[in-house]
Amino acid sequence: MTTVLGIETSCDETSAAVVDDGRLVRSNVITSQVDLHRKYGGVVPEIASRAHLECLDVIIAEALETARCRPSEVDALAVTNRPGLVGALLIGVTAAKTLSWAWSKPLTGVDHIRAHAVSAALELGKPPWPAVALVASGGHTSLYLVRSYTDVEVLGRTTDDAAGEAFDKVAAILGLAYPGGPEIERLARTGDPHAVDFPRTMLGPDSLDFSFSGVKTAVLYHVHGCGRTTGGLERLGPQNKADIAASFQQVVIDVLVRKAMLAARQTRCSTITLGGGVAANRTLRDALAAACAERRYTFFATPPAYCTDNAAMIAALGCHQLRAGHAAALDLDACASAR
Ligand code: KG4
Ligand code: ZN
Repeated sequence: MTTVLGIETSCDETSAAVVDDGRLVRSNVITSQVDLHRKYGGVVPEIASRAHLECLDVIIAEALETARCRPSEVDALAVTNRPGLVGALLIGVTAAKTLSWAWSKPLTGVDHIRAHAVSAALELGKPPWPAVALVASGGHTSLYLVRSYTDVEVLGRTTDDAAGEAFDKVAAILGLAYPGGPEIERLARTGDPHAVDFPRTMLGPDSLDFSFSGVKTAVLYHVHGCGRTTGGLERLGPQNKADIAASFQQVVIDVLVRKAMLAARQTRCSTITLGGGVAANRTLRDALAAACAERRYTFFATPPAYCTDNAAMIAALGCHQLRAGHAAALDLDACASAR
């Protein structure tokens, strides 16, 4: 058995987890800084770094305690070292390197978007690969062909705003709180998804890349009037807002589902997985499940607890990386961009 302590500090969640054999989650402690950032309408990098620094040691201790795991029982450390806010990543990377040195245990650096891409395998009896993995998070929307935990090919990615970013920005346009995804999902429940015909940007019939900035701008002009960026919100009643939220959400879901089906066709792969923060959206999960059922594809959605940023998926992928020989040295660095 391999026990890995995972650490994740890429954005505004501080998380530590203990995972056995890259699959069995013994603990997954997450503390969100969302209350610190809410009044600014988004994540403030400097505040995020300081908040990670203040609580990471407590979160690590809690993860070990919850798992009833002594430091001597940890076989290795895995830490998110990309992509994310560089100052925030550095807090986790420095902590992991320090523990690796102090405990004389191997260390591996994990790309957290790749971890979202394989998070659907968490707690499954056997890994679902090969699979087309759709990742929809705050900073990235990507499609991958996952052949194994460490053999992952990029099929398509964000060309501008990611899906989660679009949810957050549309929520701000509608005067909803940050983070916007859950707020839009809640409001959309009482809205008509066909009320407003916002654009579905496909970037060409064979493209697996994503663009959500057009729909965001279309919502902005729908609310305020063409070419205007203020002044229109007060004119909207609660039902108008719910209809806009539902119509916007439907556009994002339609594009994500269509591209995932296109990726499956292009790669001749009949297993689809879904991960990332936006994967917490119930309507998206149901729509993708229905599209897969129609085509007799196998579908695995990441369990809701592991959709938004968490260290369990970092420890899990880290375990498989170490088994494949991808250990890092103590000069492991943090990097803002994805691979
Ligand atoms: O993966 P994640 O925790 O962080 C990044 O790697 O970016 O994703 C966060 C994003 C945010 O944009 C948030 O609004 C979105 O996931 N999100 C949702 C839902 N829950 C979180 N979007 C739509 N529906 C949700 N229920
Ligand atoms: Zn993420």
